[in-house]
Amino acid sequence: MTPGTADASPQPLLRELLDPVHRADPYPLYDAVRAHGPLLLPDHNLAVFSSYADCDEVLRHPAACSDRLKSTVAQRAIADGAQARPFGPPGFLFLDPPDHTRLRRLVSKAFVPKVVRALEPDIVRIVDELLDAAQGTFDAIGGLAHPLPVAVICRLLGVPVEDEPRFRDASALLAQGLDPFVSITGAAGDGFAERLRAGQWLREYLRGLVADRRRDPGEDLMSALVAVEEAGDVLTEDEIVATCNLLLIAGHETTVNLIANATLALLRHPDQWAALGRDPSRAAAVIEETLRYDPPVQLIGRVAGEDMTIGAGVHIPRGDNILLLLAAAHRDPAATERPDEFDPDRATIRHLGFGKGPHFCIGAPLARLEATAALTALTARFPGARLAAEPAYKPNVTLRGMEELSITL
Ligand code: HEM
Repeated sequence: MTPGTADASPQPLLRELLDPVHRADPYPLYDAVRAHGPLLLPDHNLAVFSSYADCDEVLRHPAACSDRLKSTVAQRAIADGAQARPFGPPGFLFLDPPDHTRLRRLVSKAFVPKVVRALEPDIVRIVDELLDAAQGTFDAIGGLAHPLPVAVICRLLGVPVEDEPRFRDASALLAQGLDPFVSITGAAGDGFAERLRAGQWLREYLRGLVADRRRDPGEDLMSALVAVEEAGDVLTEDEIVATCNLLLIAGHETTVNLIANATLALLRHPDQWAALGRDPSRAAAVIEETLRYDPPVQLIGRVAGEDMTIGAGVHIPRGDNILLLLAAAHRDPAATERPDEFDPDRATIRHLGFGKGPHFCIGAPLARLEATAALTALTARFPGARLAAEPAYKPNVTLRGMEELSITL
């Protein structure tokens, strides 16, 4: 189909993406978007891709940038008086080379496999404690998928246990800020002021923690970030705060949703639930198939740093925003046979659930470790578990996830 010229105007299709009625099952809508082909909205300086090949190509394209300030829309808003970075200096997820390269290298020096492996006994113990308390009808979100990643990220950063609830609330609010309201509608979604306050609180809180770690270093990642040094280069205080902020937001809701989405898929396939309960070595395939079938990060954004041509001649002018609907790409029949089936036993599982290219998720090993611990313990302890009610979803579009997942143990 010729991009952007189908009968239905593309804008209503995109507005539908934001509509909470689709949150429980957005996949039919994604199919419609993918069938349309790339959606080009020159008036909005926006291009939306939903096939696997296109998303993959954009992620590998050297002109695909992550700094939102490079977009025509942001530049126009700034010229009209908008503040450039209301949430302060961005984490390196939203930066491009050379800043991205430098920060990612320094952070990778501190966030090494040893740091992740050292968390394993804690993760297993936290899962056991949470499941010891489980009985009768159990909410897998409130009882497991949510508290586990918060506890882990707080241990990783060295946040005192008593501050966890405030941390959790701030990160839930900030996750909503990733939804593509501005790209699609031109205006921020509801709750902007509240998110701004949560962001300010979190930055100030992290600043205090960094000062503590400078005085009194510990074994945690924040102490490692304070100490990291390469050829005389170190992280500034602003950079450490922005990085910890990023690790918290990027590593929390995403992992909640991975554990929850996998739990739901297994409950809907009781043979798979039973098989994992008997054989924990199946966890890796279950996790990868969940990342494909029902990914925690449904879409990601880029900005065209130069004029770009994608696929069979789709032109994107420099400065346009690009949305990549990963969750739609994962159900692309051109990339995966029987894409709508949850099948951890398929020969090859192709997904972009952790991204691709220079911004590939730095926390993937940790997320896989947490999900493995949670899913193997849950299925082994409760072999006869059943879905108690259809789950309720939060309104979030990008980090789509459940509010409650009720299981009869
Ligand atoms: C299931 C859980 C997770 C999923 C699905 C996920 C997904 C992603 C995706 C899709 C990206 C690329 C975004 C882009 O290219 O624009 C990304 C980047 C990132 N993730 Fe994760 N993530 C998860 C867990 C974590 C955890 C546990 C951490 C850290 C504690 C983390 C830290 C990061 C960071 C720092 C980046 C930015 C990397 C860069 O820009 O170079 N993530 N993640």
